[in-house]
Amino acid sequence: MKKLSIGADHTAVDLKSDVMKHLASRGIEVVDEGAYNTEKSDYPSFASKVAKRIQSGDVDQGILICGTGLGMSIAANKYKGIRAAAVSEVYSAEMSKTHNNANILCFGARVVSAELAAQLVDAWLDAEYEGERHQKRLDMIADFENEERL
Ligand code: RB5
Repeated sequence: MKKLSIGADHTAVDLKSDVMKHLASRGIEVVDEGAYNTEKSDYPSFASKVAKRIQSGDVDQGILICGTGLGMSIAANKYKGIRAAAVSEVYSAEMSKTHNNANILCFGARVVSAELAAQLVDAWLDAEYEGERHQKRLDMIADFENEERL
């Protein structure tokens, strides 16, 4: 079974707990990168921890939760090899894996309920990357990482 890393800022500590319980019910091992309390915190630091945990190979995938999921995805996508998708409905959660092979799922605690969050996570985890024509496009995106910085 795959191992996941999870991170959230202060807006999403409770939802992170709900998602962790859901993952535990599926028998999935989780590395909790914080936040561990609702004191104001900065989402980029958790995005960084989860992205680096994936880069190191400790885990295969990650989940990041902030108020909207947007800041987390913007921050995580700065890291090489990270494909973070911010979603708020099940179809996109599934497609983020089948077409985009997203290795981080992001969503917002101010946007989705605990029930919907569990559905998003399940759709993403249970979907399979289709490869083939999609791989060419992911390779094109990966090439951007090697372009000379302006
Ligand atoms: C915090 O107020 C909020 O900006 C953050 O959780 C997130 O939604 C940013 O994208």
